[in-house]
Amino acid sequence: METYKRTLFIILFLFGLNEKFSNATPINSHKSCNFPAVYNFGDSNSDTGAISAAIGEVPPPNGVAFFGRSEGRHSDGRLIIDFITENLTLPYLTPYLDSVGANYRHGANFATGGSCVRPTAACFSQFHLGTQVSQFIHFKSRTLSLYNKTNDFSKALYTFDIGQNDLAIGFQNMTEEQLKAFIPKIIENFTIALKLLYKEGARFFSIHNTGPTGCLSYLLKSFTATPRDRYGCLEPLNNVAIEFNKQLKNKISELNKELPSSLFTYVDVYSAKYNLITKSKHLGFVDPFDYCCVGAVGRGMGCGKTIFPNGTELYSSSCKNRTEFISWDGIHYSETANMLVANQILDGSISDPPLPTQKACKLMKN
Ligand SMILES: *[C@@H]1O[C@H](CO)[C@@H](O)[C@H](O)[C@H]1NC(C)=O
Ligand SMILES: *[C@@H]1O[C@H](CO)[C@@H](O)[C@H](O)[C@H]1NC(C)=O
Ligand SMILES: *[C@@H]1O[C@H](CO)[C@@H](O)[C@H](O)[C@H]1NC(C)=O
Ligand SMILES: *[C@@H]1O[C@H](CO)[C@@H](O)[C@H](O)[C@H]1NC(C)=O
Ligand SMILES: *[C@@H]1O[C@H](CO)[C@@H](O)[C@H](O)[C@H]1NC(C)=O
Ligand SMILES: *[C@@H]1O[C@H](CO)[C@@H](O)[C@H](O)[C@H]1NC(C)=O
Repeated sequence: METYKRTLFIILFLFGLNEKFSNATPINSHKSCNFPAVYNFGDSNSDTGAISAAIGEVPPPNGVAFFGRSEGRHSDGRLIIDFITENLTLPYLTPYLDSVGANYRHGANFATGGSCVRPTAACFSQFHLGTQVSQFIHFKSRTLSLYNKTNDFSKALYTFDIGQNDLAIGFQNMTEEQLKAFIPKIIENFTIALKLLYKEGARFFSIHNTGPTGCLSYLLKSFTATPRDRYGCLEPLNNVAIEFNKQLKNKISELNKELPSSLFTYVDVYSAKYNLITKSKHLGFVDPFDYCCVGAVGRGMGCGKTIFPNGTELYSSSCKNRTEFISWDGIHYSETANMLVANQILDGSISDPPLPTQKACKLMKN
């Protein structure tokens, strides 16, 4: 029986489950992929200025600590995507929606704060994933016709960090079970987007799963009666995120078998972010749910927004030591937290297959 199982395993390994990896072209594993460009899709977790350009400025103190001014990011400094492009020795990504000082020679950022995978009216932003992909298709055809650049698009890295808003919005009027039943629809639209990009020539995909949405301070304040896990996060909402991630991971493994000459990497950002919460003391953070930038109207959203109650200007206040906080503003992560997560992405320790980002083009089928 044992021998039978082992033989079956070997057969599956060679011909079945790992088909893609067994047929891999042995590429010198010391060599980096030298991605010439990064194209990113997502929400505010990776928006490097789209909302600022298209809707309204993300005000200081956002960005001030690192950039010396607001740079359109909801954080005190760099986002995970900034650490990724730094590591690939590429410039920070210019938002597709920004026209001033744009540099698209090494990619573009289609991520827009508040975006969802699915186009629902309840979503905070109209730039859902399907729209972001349409923008990419326009970007690509314009680039090819204007500059006659040959196919860098197939050598680029395509990164994704989206899904959190679909879950957070769904949770406002659905039970855990109702929302879980809805997940396949979100995954379906995610898959449509990935396949469209593949059809456009994209080959290397790095897909972040969704974070522990139930640990975000602003949601903890809204759902006071919802059960908590032993660290204080909203248990039902995290359960939904875990189920979403499970289905996303399965889909990615299917795509890896289905689409030749490509590599889809699944990145477990959930675990990295959740570990920040559970190991906050050890990592030097204060209360894991407290945050640095407090809105003028008191604790709540609105970091940096100036308000004029009774005609007097009121600013939001920033904390003394930003590196003590996991959360920057109650919704978005601090630069320190982003760096800790990014380091684990870059070295491959939370990726499947476990490749460093610089090598996320390996193990291609012939
Ligand atoms: C575009 O580039 C290709 C290959 O680099 C070249 O053969 C072709 O003539 C170029 N077309 C134009 C319109 O410049
Ligand atoms: C939740 O609200 C959205 C619109 O915001 C609606 O489409 C959906 O059907 C609602 N779901 C439930 C379970 O009520
Ligand atoms: C989302 O998926 C549904 C099928 O579930 C499809 O009808 C719809 O066109 C998709 N929307 C986008 C924008 O991809
Ligand atoms: C800020 O907090 C970090 C983490 O607790 C600590 O290492 C650092 O010394 C603090 N810096 C200042 C100026 O207090
Ligand atoms: C505005 O004025 C009213 C009445 O004087 C006062 O009760 C309220 O606290 C003031 N609001 C702020 C934010 O100062
Ligand atoms: C990129 O990350 C890898 C893995 O952590 C590291 O070995 C390498 O030194 C980094 N390179 C740069 C340029 O930061």
